[in-house]
Amino acid sequence: MKITKICCIGAGYVGGPTMAIIAQKCPQIQVTVVDLNEERIAAWNDEDVDNIPIYEPGLSEIVKEARGRNLFFSTNVEKAIDEAQIIFISVNTPTKTYGKGKGMAADLKFIELCARQIAKIAKDDKIVVEKSTLPVRTAEAIKSILDNTGNGVQFQILSNPEFLAEGTAVQDLLNPDRILIGGDTTEEGQKAIQALVDVYANWVPTDKILTTNVWSSELSKLTANAFLAQRISSVNAMSELCEKTGADVNEVAKAIGMDSRIGAKFLKASVGFGGSCFQKDILNLVYIAKSYGLHEVADYWEQVIIMNDYQKRRFSNKIVQTLYNTVADKKIAFLGWAFKKDTNDTRESAAIYVADDLINEQAQIAVYDPKVSAKKVLADLDYLETRSTEKNSACVTSFDDPYEACANAHAIAVLTEWDEFVQYDWQKIYDSMQKPAFVFDGRNILDRAKMEEIGFVCQAIGS
Ligand code: NAD
Ligand code: UDX
Repeated sequence: MKITKICCIGAGYVGGPTMAIIAQKCPQIQVTVVDLNEERIAAWNDEDVDNIPIYEPGLSEIVKEARGRNLFFSTNVEKAIDEAQIIFISVNTPTKTYGKGKGMAADLKFIELCARQIAKIAKDDKIVVEKSTLPVRTAEAIKSILDNTGNGVQFQILSNPEFLAEGTAVQDLLNPDRILIGGDTTEEGQKAIQALVDVYANWVPTDKILTTNVWSSELSKLTANAFLAQRISSVNAMSELCEKTGADVNEVAKAIGMDSRIGAKFLKASVGFGGSCFQKDILNLVYIAKSYGLHEVADYWEQVIIMNDYQKRRFSNKIVQTLYNTVADKKIAFLGWAFKKDTNDTRESAAIYVADDLINEQAQIAVYDPKVSAKKVLADLDYLETRSTEKNSACVTSFDDPYEACANAHAIAVLTEWDEFVQYDWQKIYDSMQKPAFVFDGRNILDRAKMEEIGFVCQAIGS
């Protein structure tokens, strides 16, 4: 089948960048990204490409090149579904906040809505692609909805999970380690797989395009995230032991990472992992394991989350203890609020939880993040529902200037590893702070010897 029209439901951190790259690399294909969120679509269509809703290095240039040529953003979901031969579903699949599986299972209501809408609108055969991260065997539910329309339309369901990481999305999409496509073993299923392989083959070498059955593909995504997060929790567990024994976690990580069987990536000790994926996907994995009665499997993976929560709490406790067991009315400057550098995404950022703990101790938090707005910082704290909006806004202030955020502070906490933090005039910051001037480096990015030479009292993770 020759593909000329693709639609993607969901214009978020995955749908937006992924479709921008497909449009850039496949000028012969018309790509339409649709979303119910009018504000988000308006931002994607903003004349000034610097105002697109997602900050990713290199993304605005690609959107500028393709938008209006073969890349379109729209709220007209029905039209886009009707016209497309391939429909990607890239909507959010958050942890359930209600009912059975609350706090653990993935909430699939948005996925089901998409399936029902496709079933309602489609008049000719379609390939439906699960781009969202989904529990294993979700395709079965989607198929059951699509196959019961009674209008004779044939659907093929493929699983094509996305492995991009935020902050490096463009590079990850241009040069993926692999593309994974799962589909039915039937002849029709294989044809659908081939149609999607042909799209990616426009820029991805075919030996990097892996095809499997649907269930392997769905489960591989949860497995990849669980393995990645497990490495961080493992190194973070060692970081506490390093602090007690005089070992340095950076040196330990380097020493073990040079073992080619272990590898050097994802061994950076930190204040704890954040982001919209790791916690959600592991909780989901744990829930699935439990639902099959596999309690040892569930407990094994749950420990990754327990360790991560502990690491965040340990960081805030350390700040309180070091500041003579009280932070009440003290100004603590946060450098960084995003869950990692080079993104404006704050979902599950460790900064939110550390701030929440310190506000419980009546600290005054001053936030500077190069890409996160004051509104977002407050919304993140309100989302926890620990206290009223009024109380949160009385305890947190955002600054546009890092030096102002740090002036008069009793302590600085580095929560995100933004490159610019390393370049600051730290002598100037030191001079403007209360003494002793404390720095808690939750990302191990600052040169400790230099900081101590200036006069800072420094604490890092794992040394
Ligand atoms: P997101 O919240 O940024 O975007 C999802 C979008 O879908 C929202 O804009 C929402 O308005 C829209 N939407 C929801 N229901 C809709 C409907 N019925 N019709 C039209 N639009 C609808 O989410 P995201 O970060 O892009 O994640 C999407 C999926 O991809 C999730 O399953 C996630 O687990 C997975 N994923 C995310 C990442 C990542 O780095 N963020 C990486 C890999 C996989
Ligand atoms: C992750 C996966 O990497 C990606 O493949 C998947 O598609 C989505 O989930 P993302 O959450 O965007 O991507 O970023 P990632 O680079 O994985 O970082 C996640 C969190 O772990 C961040 O808070 C980061 O700071 C932290 N991290 C990462 C560490 O603390 N140490 C490390 O060594 C690596």
